[in-house]
Amino acid sequence: MKILGKFPSTRLRRVRNSDWVRRLISENNLSANDLILPIFLTEGKNKKEKIKTMPGIYRYSLDKLSSILDEAEKFKIPMIALFPNTSNHKRDHNGSEALNENNLICRAIKLIKKKYNKFGIMTDVALDPYTSHGHDGLLHKGKILNDETVKILVKQSLLQAQMGCDVIAPSDMMDGRIGKIRKALDKNNFKNVQILSYAAKYASNFYGPFRNAISASNNLGPNKKKSYQMDYNNNNEALKEVSMDIKEGADIILIKPGMPYLDVLNKIKNTFNYPTFSYQVSGEYSMLMKSIEEGYFKKEDIIIETLSCFKRAGADAILTYFALEAAKILRQK
Ligand code: PBG
Repeated sequence: MKILGKFPSTRLRRVRNSDWVRRLISENNLSANDLILPIFLTEGKNKKEKIKTMPGIYRYSLDKLSSILDEAEKFKIPMIALFPNTSNHKRDHNGSEALNENNLICRAIKLIKKKYNKFGIMTDVALDPYTSHGHDGLLHKGKILNDETVKILVKQSLLQAQMGCDVIAPSDMMDGRIGKIRKALDKNNFKNVQILSYAAKYASNFYGPFRNAISASNNLGPNKKKSYQMDYNNNNEALKEVSMDIKEGADIILIKPGMPYLDVLNKIKNTFNYPTFSYQVSGEYSMLMKSIEEGYFKKEDIIIETLSCFKRAGADAILTYFALEAAKILRQK
């Protein structure tokens, strides 16, 4: 790097000396426009259930959704992401409930689309909320089948598009699914339905609390999701994943988890300069929340700092369970 200044003619502290100049100098400015709110759904009526592993986060039955959706609208959250907690008796080996046009997610999309038009709806494409074993794909003799799974994911995507979802978000990490989904959407006149690809998704322990939120099975076997999600030792491999998904037609790519993987996010953003999102996942949320509850962090400050770090690393937007809280804090500022 070229040397830009020399003490004492250059004093970097001069531009840190007051709030007004810090605001002028700031390279990034987090706003509500950067936030995507994940929402958990549950069957039944009049339910707002606590999630044991995620303090402050709830599962909503459809009739109770307006409490959180009204807030999302009021605080100008641009997009929500829906995750269903499927009833246990509807889960089976092949995740067939994923293709039921009356399943929880389909009913939710229809209902929300009827009542709200200020934010986009993003829905997850993967089989884990529907399979009895908790894997994102079809399990056969201990192996996750790729091409057979993709066929189902294509159908799942078409179904969600039919219901009115705006952004299809495959989070399954099967090879080749983006291209197949794009082709099927185009063929069925869903040209404007976007694809947000979880392009570089790592096999991470940070998803633990989420699996409890959607009651996904913990019987994943010894390799867990490592045969499809990425190894956390790898960085260059993420470039391959992302470049393939862009070529296959992804509109937006996502790197996940968030905070411990900001190096990957930064490299991807700098390499491709493509719309790039990140996900502050459940484990990150719960770690922070627990510390906030213990009084180790001041809630407002730690939320804004962590989300600003995503922006600095190159995220265009962030999925975060703090989305509403952050939007409220930012409005007060
Ligand atoms: C599953 C999916 C997961 C998350 C989003 N979609 C979990 C997993 O891959 O096991 C994790 C989100 C979070 O931890 O907040 N397709």
